[in-house]
Amino acid sequence: MALDQVGQKEAAARRALEEVRDGMALGLGSGSTAEVFVRLLGDRVRAGLRVIGVPTSEATADLARRLGIPLVDRDEVPALDLDVDGADEVDPEGRLLKGLGGALLREKIVASAARRLVVVVDESKLVGRLGERAALPVEVVRFGWRRAEAALRACGASTALRGGPADPFLTDGGNLILDCRFPAGADLPALAARCKALVGVVEHGLFPAARPTVCIGRASGDVEVRRGA
Ligand code: A5P
Repeated sequence: MALDQVGQKEAAARRALEEVRDGMALGLGSGSTAEVFVRLLGDRVRAGLRVIGVPTSEATADLARRLGIPLVDRDEVPALDLDVDGADEVDPEGRLLKGLGGALLREKIVASAARRLVVVVDESKLVGRLGERAALPVEVVRFGWRRAEAALRACGASTALRGGPADPFLTDGGNLILDCRFPAGADLPALAARCKALVGVVEHGLFPAARPTVCIGRASGDVEVRRGA
C-alpha cells in the first residue's frame, strides 16, 4: 500500500518503538515524527510499559506529561539507553541536519547522552549532501547577535534570522536562530565547527556524532532500517 508522508512518519515511528524495552531511560525527540513516536509510546505506557523519558523540548515535555509518560531531568540519569528523534536531512553516511523545529540544542545534549540514537524520518529527508535543501540552523545568544551574524557571514554563510527581526523565533533556552546557507560544495562539517567556535554561538544543527540507526518510512509501505555503529 502506498504511504503518504504522514503514513511514512508513522511507519518509521512504529519501527522505532520496537527498539524500546521495559525499564529503559529514553530521550524523547521533537518535531512531527518524534511526536508520533511519543504518542505510540504513551499507548504502551498506559498498557504497562515502564520507562522514563528526557524530553528535548518544552513541546515534547507537555505532550509526554499529557500522555502519562514519566519524565526526569537530564541530570537525574547518568545516561540514556535510547534516544528517538527526527531529522531534517540525512546523508548517505547517516549524518544529520536538525533544528528546523528549533530544539537543536537540547536534542544534541540528549543525543550525546544516549547509548543509541534512532532517527525516524520519511523518505523526503534523504539527501545526497547535507545542506542540499535545509539551511544549517545556528543558535546564538540574543546579546550582541548581530556581531555573531557578521562573523557567520565572514565564514561564507548567507544568514536569515528565523522569524525576522520584528518577531524573532526564540528557542526554549531564549536564544535566536540564524539559518545559514553555504555555497554548494562547501565543507559543511568544517564550516559548522568554525561556526561553533565563534563568540555568541551556542550550537549548530549538524549531528556528525556516532552513526545513528535510521528508520526510513518509504512510500512503498516498507520501513528501511539503516543500522548505525
Ligand atoms: C527539531 O528541532 C528538529 O530537529 C526535528 O527533529 C526535525 O525538524 C524533524 O521534524 P519533523 O519530524 O517534523 O520533520
